[in-house]
Amino acid sequence: MAPVIKKPDYNLINAVSDNRLLGLWRMMTGYRYIYLAATIGLGIAALSKTATYLLLRYFIDDILGKGYGWQTLALIGLGFVGLALFEGTFTFLSGRLAAQTAEGVALRLRNYLYDHIQRLTFTYHDRTKTGELLQRSTSDVEAVRRFYADQAIALGRIVLLFVVNFLAIWTLQRQLAVLSVAVVPVLVLVSVFFFGRVSKRYEAYQEQDAELQTTLQENLSGVRVVKAFARQDYEIGKFEQENWEKYQRGRRLILMHSLYWPSSDILAGFQMLVGFVIGAIMAINGTITVGTYLAYAGMVIWIIWPMRNLGRIIVQMSAGLVSYDRVCEIITEEEEPLTEGSIKPAGHVRGEIVFDNVSFAYNGGETVLNDISFRCNPGERVALLGSTGSGKTSLVNLLPRFYEYTGGSITLDGKELKDYQRRYLRSQIGIVEQEPFLFSRSIRENITYGVLRDVSDEEVYAAARAAAIHDVILSFPDGYNTQVGERGVTLSGGQKQRVAIARTLLRDPRILILDDATSSVDTETEGAIRQALTHLMQGRSTFIIAHRIQTVMYAELILVMDHGRIIQSGTHDELMAQPGAYRRIYEMQARVEDELQSELQATAD
Ligand code: CTP
Ligand code: MG
Repeated sequence: MAPVIKKPDYNLINAVSDNRLLGLWRMMTGYRYIYLAATIGLGIAALSKTATYLLLRYFIDDILGKGYGWQTLALIGLGFVGLALFEGTFTFLSGRLAAQTAEGVALRLRNYLYDHIQRLTFTYHDRTKTGELLQRSTSDVEAVRRFYADQAIALGRIVLLFVVNFLAIWTLQRQLAVLSVAVVPVLVLVSVFFFGRVSKRYEAYQEQDAELQTTLQENLSGVRVVKAFARQDYEIGKFEQENWEKYQRGRRLILMHSLYWPSSDILAGFQMLVGFVIGAIMAINGTITVGTYLAYAGMVIWIIWPMRNLGRIIVQMSAGLVSYDRVCEIITEEEEPLTEGSIKPAGHVRGEIVFDNVSFAYNGGETVLNDISFRCNPGERVALLGSTGSGKTSLVNLLPRFYEYTGGSITLDGKELKDYQRRYLRSQIGIVEQEPFLFSRSIRENITYGVLRDVSDEEVYAAARAAAIHDVILSFPDGYNTQVGERGVTLSGGQKQRVAIARTLLRDPRILILDDATSSVDTETEGAIRQALTHLMQGRSTFIIAHRIQTVMYAELILVMDHGRIIQSGTHDELMAQPGAYRRIYEMQARVEDELQSELQATAD
């Protein structure tokens, strides 16, 4: 069972900084002591290793052949074993603690991102590709995790090994100590040189990775379209092209790594060779003892090899830092302020809605709504009719404040809509989307989605009956427990719409929006739903978007829209009494119906 994870109790926004190391440090909040312990563990392990070499020197120079008894030898032997155990234990502990930190930070970061993405605005989601979000929440978080688990700790290890061994050699022989770090500045310079280049190439690589994810994700979501249009070959080609680009960028990235390795190897090897030779000459001359030489030879390896690794670590760290930036880009994206706004009544709204000269444009683009003015009294039905793209969905999406109107005013119960808290508004408004989405959960869970209290089966059934879907659900083998989607039944378009209607009705909203909610339902079922809804719509202000006159004709107010404007408004009778779009649509639909009827009659005869 997954643990109950509380919402992150601090804001990761604190971790956003131009100074990436500072940001990563802040991201470690709550884990710093564990990380410190990991570093101390490393320090102890490093000291044990160096102590082993110093013990070796002591053993060779001061004990061996000096006639000590077996007790002394046994003690020294124990010392070696003890130090080895010490080193092993602390290396292990330190690795574990570092992993704990890294996993902890990554867990929190993933939770935070998921949480945050839920709260971003519609506008953000309109302009961001899903694949991009997926990639950043997984692959980039993974790179950040590796930063803590591997790179940061390895960096600490390198620095400690360097300092401890350098000081140890220094106490033995100063010239040797200086000699053994002669190439270090060069190594560091080479590392820094590669660091910059790798950063750039890694960033390009990750970008392409996101591109590839998007391609895959869209292809999978749109698999039906692809098959219907027989575009498999084109899609495969597109994917292969993106994949090829990723391969190319990956190669360029690896090239940088593979150039770095030999250059650092040559430097390190050269350094060791010179050190060994000069040390040997000193030992032969008697400047240093044999024990000192052996200890030196052991310790200098632990200066040079880690230094050589330093470059690799720094180069890999660049991946963590670039990924940190990519994650921060999501973190800094502003959340939709759900509880901002001064109006949050304790009870329900009455549902008096007045649009006054409202205009609206998506994200600074062209206006898609102009001069929209009308009034909806509490409990009335407003029907929207109009050609596709005329702005019906855009208009109703303003009510729950999914988007903000750009001009004019909308009032709800006499108060400006912009002053209402979004969360409150959305608790009052039920919306059946034009393209409803169901989760891969049971039908019951889908219907009770978003209802916070316990719901009885009776209530669920009543909602399903009103949406004319109850009997269909009962016909499934598992009834209301039937899984929707991959692991269960695949619902038809009309069935999905009706489950979505049931889901909205169960929430018992004061304002009901039905955006083409019965477009995929046959005329007979639509009639049944309409009847059930007529009862349910009582006392609620309802917005109905539909293309069939039969669905809209009983509304108290019918708005006919075209190109973002209301071109006609009134009741069915008023609109029928004047020439115009409404009457045209009515007559056309009536004619089609008639023809259909007579044709049916003809085949029946
Ligand atoms: N639009 C947009 N950005 C969005 C949604 C819509 O720019 N996120 C634009 C569309 O391109 C269209 C206009 O807004 O030109 C109106 O769209 P919409 O309100 O969705 O039209 P509807 O009347 O709902 O059309 P339909 O009957 O097809 O649902
Ligand atoms: Mg629409």
